[in-house]
Amino acid sequence: MMIRMSATLIDRPTSGATEDELATQLHDVRTRTRRLTEDLSTRQLMGPMLPIVNPVLWEIGHVGWFHEYWTLRHAHGEAPGLDGADLLWNSSTVAHATRWDLKLPDRNGVFAYMADVLGRQVGRLSGGVEARMRYFYELSIRHEDMHVEALAYTRQTLGYARPDGLGHAADHDAGPWPGDASVPGGRWRLGSTGADGFIFDNEKWAHEVGIAPFRIAKAPVTNAEFAAFVRAGGYRNRQFWSAAGWAWREGTGAERPVYWLETDGGYGTWRRYQDVEPLAPHAPVMFVNWYEAEAWCRWAKRRLPTEAEWEAAALGEAVANGSCLADSKRRWPWGETSPSSQHANLDFAFDGPLDVAACAAGDSAFGCRQMIGNVWEWTASDFVPLPGFAADPYEDYSRPWFNTRKVLRGGSWATSARIARPGYRNFFTPERNDVIAGFRTCAL
Ligand SMILES: [Fe+2]
Repeated sequence: MMIRMSATLIDRPTSGATEDELATQLHDVRTRTRRLTEDLSTRQLMGPMLPIVNPVLWEIGHVGWFHEYWTLRHAHGEAPGLDGADLLWNSSTVAHATRWDLKLPDRNGVFAYMADVLGRQVGRLSGGVEARMRYFYELSIRHEDMHVEALAYTRQTLGYARPDGLGHAADHDAGPWPGDASVPGGRWRLGSTGADGFIFDNEKWAHEVGIAPFRIAKAPVTNAEFAAFVRAGGYRNRQFWSAAGWAWREGTGAERPVYWLETDGGYGTWRRYQDVEPLAPHAPVMFVNWYEAEAWCRWAKRRLPTEAEWEAAALGEAVANGSCLADSKRRWPWGETSPSSQHANLDFAFDGPLDVAACAAGDSAFGCRQMIGNVWEWTASDFVPLPGFAADPYEDYSRPWFNTRKVLRGGSWATSARIARPGYRNFFTPERNDVIAGFRTCAL
């Protein structure tokens, strides 16, 4: 697989951000990258070789390289700023397991390279950049957003300290939010359009699908609700698991969500970063994989929503008499307003998930809460191309991963609002329990 540059620059939809706004976004996302990495020791910057993490020192260099590759080199035609950078940081050609053995620059060298690229980008932006080139700034900013979230869950995976200076402490006073919302059936336009601003290739294009009426939980499954499944012996009962899910469970010996700690036969605590903390009963369960979500559903006689159902519950409205879905699609679940911490726990508004009753201002037309933010939500759907899919210039973003992953929607507390647009399709393999994901369910 190669990241290839397409031969021509064509107009692609962007968010409409100006050059000044893009420069601000570049600085803001870099601040997050630095807060997630600067306090780490030289040893932590390399870390253990695991299939689910990158060496942090490699990962941040790769972020800088991606910016340089797509903006300075591809869009502006500049020469590489560092000899051999492609051989270090092209994620399509540098095999994952080899990333611990590369002759990377040291910490100061990597940060200097990143700062040099950022300085050249800001210089270009201050001189004015055409819209068709701004697309690549938007792409590389979003790519850094994704790695920021990955760095946050890598610190969790590896038991590093809680990062400083990212989000207020998440309080847990909002409580549970039980019950289902009713969504009428009808036609739904799944996917994004050219009017949705910057979009990724796997969202193209919006197309009509039919949806039967369904009932979907007003909130994601909580820790307390998941604990009932664990206490009921859910991890030891084959009947709740698919063949693939049971194979995962047997292979790993999982008895509970990966970071939960069993004390006195109960599940009151978990490992959060490097500390043991109480498990908030009414916060959404997180760090569970698709198989665990599937098993919980089978135990609770529920099911995961499809992508189309998730979108309709988040963005749909009913016609006046409530009999079917209206021909409308909101920008956000709550309407047109850009997200604030009243609507959604995004952008490190808080440093972890809030209780599921929080963010009431962000309710969808059907009364679903936290469709955006707090935790990603696994859906029932396989990650497949939509009708009319064609790869964008970053060719390896989606295409190599179709049919082997499950779709997640909605974003987490560590996701930027740029990424957590409702139309954004995240995707991971079903055994991944290290990403900031939970799930919401539908009635059978
Ligand atoms: Fe990347």
